[in-house]
Amino acid sequence: MAGKGFTVKKDWDNPMEHAMPAGVRVPAEVRLGPVVVAPATVLAPMAGVTDTVFRRFIRHASLFTTPSEAAREDSDSHPSHKNKDVARVGHPECLSESEIEAEVTNAQSGCGLLMTEFTSADGLARMRESKRKRYLTFYDDEHPIGAQLFGSNADTLAEAARIVEDTGFDTVDLNLGCPAKRVVGCNGGSGLLRDLPKVGEIFRAVRKAVAIPFTVKFRMGWNHSQIVCVELARMAEAEGLNAVALHARTREQGYSGQAHWEWIAAIKQAVGIPVIGNGDIRTPEDAAAMVAQTGCDAVMIGRAAPANPWIFRQIAQYTAAGSYDRPTVEDRYRMIRAYFSMLLEEVDTSNAAAEPGQKSPYAGKETAGKMKQFASWFTHGVPGGAKLRGDIYHAKTGADVLAQVDAFFTAQLASGSDAALLPDESEAEAYPEGALVCD
Ligand SMILES: Cc1cc2nc3c(=O)[nH]c(=O)nc-3n(C[C@H](O)[C@H](O)[C@H](O)COP(=O)(O)O)c2cc1C
Repeated sequence: MAGKGFTVKKDWDNPMEHAMPAGVRVPAEVRLGPVVVAPATVLAPMAGVTDTVFRRFIRHASLFTTPSEAAREDSDSHPSHKNKDVARVGHPECLSESEIEAEVTNAQSGCGLLMTEFTSADGLARMRESKRKRYLTFYDDEHPIGAQLFGSNADTLAEAARIVEDTGFDTVDLNLGCPAKRVVGCNGGSGLLRDLPKVGEIFRAVRKAVAIPFTVKFRMGWNHSQIVCVELARMAEAEGLNAVALHARTREQGYSGQAHWEWIAAIKQAVGIPVIGNGDIRTPEDAAAMVAQTGCDAVMIGRAAPANPWIFRQIAQYTAAGSYDRPTVEDRYRMIRAYFSMLLEEVDTSNAAAEPGQKSPYAGKETAGKMKQFASWFTHGVPGGAKLRGDIYHAKTGADVLAQVDAFFTAQLASGSDAALLPDESEAEAYPEGALVCD
């Protein structure tokens, strides 16, 4: 559902290095109305990225690394591990979707709330029931999960929010950040930042329509001379929304420059509902630094998640122990194979469920595209990763991508380069152009 025509940065501009602030950590939990988000970390909605496979992958990411002895003992003794062997993934074979223990707690995964990709309220309201299900697919182990909507018509958004609630989502979120021309052109996404009375109308209509927590994610304003985020947050509180999330950039900024965390702090000063901070978190240190600098109640992580799916787990480790594990090349290999097998299982499930004449969202070309995209993210920081990314760019099928990945990692492991790698050791093209079309 992502729109075309907006160029976004593939990587962070001049990423800032943060030291872990003394005594400040990402909060253990935040409450969005009755929904407990623990720990207070949120996977950002990302069009083309945060589908059900990716979300579950993030939820289970802690299972795909070789656990340290201490962590292994800890997880073995965890009461929620009915099958202790599931925690032991030190063998080279990865777990497939069906082998994954469904009861990884959020505390173990480190990610307190998952979010869908943004979904058009107009589209949802018009779709047949069977098609809606495809857009709003999620599994039991994704709770708590929020669905994000975009649109500009209050009644349509209210109807779409009701559909989201009926589908079983825990929260519904309104997108006021998308800079894509196709969305802004219909007054959706960040286009609404220029029409606060309309936003008020939407807040009231959606609030009245659903009982589940209702949140909003927005940018600071259209540009630096029209900053509206504090006013917007106050409106959200007054209309009974349960939390606000700020991507601390303007629409005009796109993804360039630094995120202006001082505006997250300003919103925190202005409202009593939870404030979720977003923008430029790449490491556990960044996450804690954002909490220290802004007082935000939760952190939301976008681009770092596909590049380093361990980030949520690392934040949890850092919070608990002041240090965190870094993935080895073998961990990356295990992880990419795990992601591929989850994707392929979802392809089978989704194809089997598609009605005659209906296209599955994971039809052949899309699956190969997703495999390429993820192979490209996951090999950042791995020596020689740029060559692999060049090779898989030309791959035609999922099997070709897999063969390239297998050959690459086999050679890496044979050469003994199984070193722990820093998550930010990335090269220029951290995100493939095609994926970066919306916010
Ligand atoms: C590929 C991609 C797709 C995105 N799609 C959405 C979206 O559907 N809805 C939304 O609110 N933000 C979207 N965003 C923005 C992110 O949610 C987040 O606000 C932004 O990336 C800044 O956070 P970060 O620095 O942690 O990446 C998208 C970002 C990327 C990179």
